[in-house]
Amino acid sequence: MEEISPFEIVIFGGSGDLAMRKLLPALYRRHRAGQLPDDGRIVGTARSAMDRERYIAEVEKSCRRYLPADEFDSEVWASFAERLDFARVDATDADSYTNLSDCLGEPGHRSRVFYLATSPKLFVDICRYLQHAGLTNRASRVVLEKPLGHDLASAQTISEQIGEIFAEDQIYRIDHYLGKETVQNLIALRFGNALFEPLWRREWVRDVQITVAEQVGVEGRAGFYDNTGALRDMVQNHLLQLLAITAMEPPTSIDQNAVRDEKLKVLRALLPLRGRDAIHNTVRGQYRAGAVDGQPVPGYLEEDDVVPESRTETFAALKAELGTWRWSGVPFYLRTGKRLQERLAEIVINFRQVPHSIFDGVYGASQPNRLVIRLQPDEGMKLYIMAKAPGDEMRLRPVSLDLDFAETFKQRQADAYERLLTDVLRGRLTLFMRRDELYAAWEWVEPILEAWENIGDAPKSYTAGTWGPAASSALLSRDGAAWHEES
Ligand code: BG6
Repeated sequence: MEEISPFEIVIFGGSGDLAMRKLLPALYRRHRAGQLPDDGRIVGTARSAMDRERYIAEVEKSCRRYLPADEFDSEVWASFAERLDFARVDATDADSYTNLSDCLGEPGHRSRVFYLATSPKLFVDICRYLQHAGLTNRASRVVLEKPLGHDLASAQTISEQIGEIFAEDQIYRIDHYLGKETVQNLIALRFGNALFEPLWRREWVRDVQITVAEQVGVEGRAGFYDNTGALRDMVQNHLLQLLAITAMEPPTSIDQNAVRDEKLKVLRALLPLRGRDAIHNTVRGQYRAGAVDGQPVPGYLEEDDVVPESRTETFAALKAELGTWRWSGVPFYLRTGKRLQERLAEIVINFRQVPHSIFDGVYGASQPNRLVIRLQPDEGMKLYIMAKAPGDEMRLRPVSLDLDFAETFKQRQADAYERLLTDVLRGRLTLFMRRDELYAAWEWVEPILEAWENIGDAPKSYTAGTWGPAASSALLSRDGAAWHEES
């Protein structure tokens, strides 16, 4: 495994939710795995008056809370805590950056990473003040959390302004779905095996389904979510990235630009959905009160901070198509939503029916093959094939070949942030979104948002704890298809 060189990582928003819940526990785990070099420092910054001891105590509290009990070890913690430091910085106040300079000193041989786990409104200010304080150089890296803009124009503005300070190869745009183990396994499956590639095309694939379903609601983030909605929050980034990896041509290498060039081609090949096409090929939903896992939950409009009669969608289903030789005419059905029946993220490849069946009804009908790539909750893959049922009669039965990653590799799968943070520290950009990908994704999504706004109707209501509005099933049934778990 490639060693990580000495580093210092500065986390803006160091006492915020993302840092406490995901980033610092992820760094602790990598430390515990012995993957971080001795000379690796972690500096949290925040506006609040805190000193190093207090910050370390806060980080310890959240590591104890968010890590499984058997992973928190007092001795390991003590050595991890030595890496931690704190600098009080008000992101919008140039003068306060001297606190950070004092804390950091000269970078020397260490690579310097700035992780902006803050509101995107602060991104440009932070980068400018860092530069002004002389804290950046050609070797520093900056990590940006989504949302990277609210639409194409704002994404361009942020990117251009940050581009004045950091070159593109210094910018790590996080889409944490790309750090999920199964997404990388999809790359391994497609390009590490000769078996699938010949089948991975319109001649053999009937449709592709990508579902990211959540059981949670807006989790106290309604102020943000109500201005965002499912299309911007999930489809524009996570689902389109999954689609790009599923549909891309084989890259010439795993090199950052080889992979990102291929993903970009897919995003640019998405057939535009505008006006009536957008309305016809998409479904917007919003949950009303219901029950999730047997627990009653309020409707979206009853959540705190949601504006009365809000039309923000908490569910989106879309039928996308690609204008390429490989995929022409193959529907890519995408759906995502909050307060759905299960927490589930998966990519389903539905293959075509056999061209000619030698079995008649007596033997049981042959069902098309299906490959299910499961990102969460239980990571793995299932290939559904037809087999003969035991007995002296010839009867067909669908069975699945299961690959459960946890069971097969007998080792804990790294969390997406562990993977992405170590990639940043190693300077590997493959799993981060390039600027042109970001723009291409916004270019496709924006006309859909416009069409929704112009039509002006309310999203379709669905009961919390179901699979979304009935129109989502109808989107597929009119093509003679059905969502995977409903079939
Ligand atoms: C985030 C969205 O990007 O992804 C959230 O902003 C969503 O609304 C989350 O809940 C889902 O991530 P995961 O890894 O829990 O599926």
